[in-house]
Amino acid sequence: MMRCMETRVIEVDLLDDCRAVYKEAAAVLAEGGLVALPTETVYGLGADAFNTEAVAQVFAVKERPAFDPLICHLAHAKGLKDIANVPAELQALVDKLAHEFWPGPMTLVLPRRECVPDIVTSGLPTVACRVPSHEVMRGVVRALGHPIAAPSANRFGHISPTSAGAVMKELGGRIPMVLDAGACAEGLESTILAPCIDEKGNPAVRLLREGPITREKLRGICRVIRPGKNKAVDAAAAPTAPGQLKSHYAPAKKLVLHNPREPFEPEEGVTYGLITYQGDSPLASQDCWAEVMPLSPGSGRLAEAAVRLFAVMRAMDEHEEVQVIVAEELPETGLGCAMMDRLRRAAANRDE
Ligand code: TXA
Ligand code: MG
Repeated sequence: MMRCMETRVIEVDLLDDCRAVYKEAAAVLAEGGLVALPTETVYGLGADAFNTEAVAQVFAVKERPAFDPLICHLAHAKGLKDIANVPAELQALVDKLAHEFWPGPMTLVLPRRECVPDIVTSGLPTVACRVPSHEVMRGVVRALGHPIAAPSANRFGHISPTSAGAVMKELGGRIPMVLDAGACAEGLESTILAPCIDEKGNPAVRLLREGPITREKLRGICRVIRPGKNKAVDAAAAPTAPGQLKSHYAPAKKLVLHNPREPFEPEEGVTYGLITYQGDSPLASQDCWAEVMPLSPGSGRLAEAAVRLFAVMRAMDEHEEVQVIVAEELPETGLGCAMMDRLRRAAANRDE
């Protein structure tokens, strides 16, 4: 069983001078402790990336299998060369991506340097690197002076936390400190890209996880190869992200996806909660719902829906009357692709 400890939640107001808080968090990390930290995507469970025992604690606290590697968070793109060896033929592409999207919700999988412990990369020859835009995560990385290895601050397979309250529900009593800077601005985990050379010899990226940097945003910057679309490139590539496990990001309750243009046929004796995309869904007018929660209560904006998706999934999971969660299928453009990716995994049968 997990050791129970008191978890300190420290509120961080970015309008104040936060250096003392960053130092305090960095001191916990420097001693091998874990701190949950906000990023613009979701809250992360941080450890000093160069401290193997601390990183081992991350796996223990999350109950995460050791084959699932962690992302290293840097304060600045300049720090990339300290943990990754960017191949010469990919340097121009990496520079371009870093210039466009860092700091921000993009993770690059690149050949690792020796100094990155095996436990961080699960023994892979590559390391996942990200320069987040959230001031708190970057401030603590700077104060520590090392990269911070941080997965999302939830128990393995659960919904990622987008607030300190959600972190406490997942990991309260298991970690010494949470920095609370309010809700995350993006609400979905970073886009994961593996820069590579395609079959024609040109630089490209393999899209390992959909996220806030959408395929539309990448268009015009480089070719995007979706796993499964090009067998030759897949075969040559490192293992894909285990965030790609079929069942992931899952509420405890059963979740089913439903086409909003078709009526829902409830089963006798089951109570349902409905997650709609926008405020005026035709499905919402059916009388079979114990609860209806819209992701974007007005006429539907994908960015607003993305910010609220995990919080709404959690609220449905905690709802006393709801037994089964029905989620409307979302339009698969822009951020809708990443949201549908998370919803499909939430709906996947865990026994498969
Ligand atoms: O937005 C985010 O990315 C958040 C915040 C905290 O930065 N982090 C996050 O971490 O979502 P996590 O551990 O929940 O998901 C990271 C994913 C995992 O699915 C992991 O398998 C993949 O990144 N990953 C890490 N290193 C990898 C590598 N070397 N090759 C392929 N995939 C890798
Ligand atoms: Mg995660």
